[in-house]
Amino acid sequence: MLNFKKLRKKNIVLIGLMGSGKSAVGREIAKSLNFDFYDSDAEIEKRIGKSIKQIFQTKGEEFFRLLEEEICLELLENKNCVIALGGGSIINKRIRSLINLNSFSIYLKVDIEVLLNRLRNSNKRPLLSLGNKKIILEDIYNQRKNYYKKANLIIVNNTSKESVVKNIIKELS
Ligand code: S3P
Repeated sequence: MLNFKKLRKKNIVLIGLMGSGKSAVGREIAKSLNFDFYDSDAEIEKRIGKSIKQIFQTKGEEFFRLLEEEICLELLENKNCVIALGGGSIINKRIRSLINLNSFSIYLKVDIEVLLNRLRNSNKRPLLSLGNKKIILEDIYNQRKNYYKKANLIIVNNTSKESVVKNIIKELS
């Protein structure tokens, strides 16, 4: 039986900084377990009809965070799903409480240098365009690390997606 079922959890959620591979890894885990897969950012984009970047630009971060709360709380009410949560959703107390209550959480831990490398050419992360990417990533990591570290499972994802997925499936068995 899956670990998370023993814990009476309904879903598996992936948390971690942007670029940590939550969506790519989450999609593979969902496939392996025959679960549905959701990505909170993709659901937000669908609901509003704008990209995350456009939402930040036209409505601001505060609006985005409210929407993020609404969508994440809805997604977390599902059953037998793998959910990749936007990196900043963990700062929201209501989202954290619902994760703790009903989901098995996996923190994908990635070194800042690796993240910087992966995100070097991405312009999809509005928070990183506000200044020096390294300083911003270090800063948000420091704000969030205590929440990330409370995950049920912590997996390092510095290298290949395949080995990480294998590791997670093994840990869940
Ligand atoms: C954010 C992470 C992004 C997205 C938004 C804000 C954050 O999601 O929600 O740009 O605050 O860390 P990913 O973690 O999927 O990149």
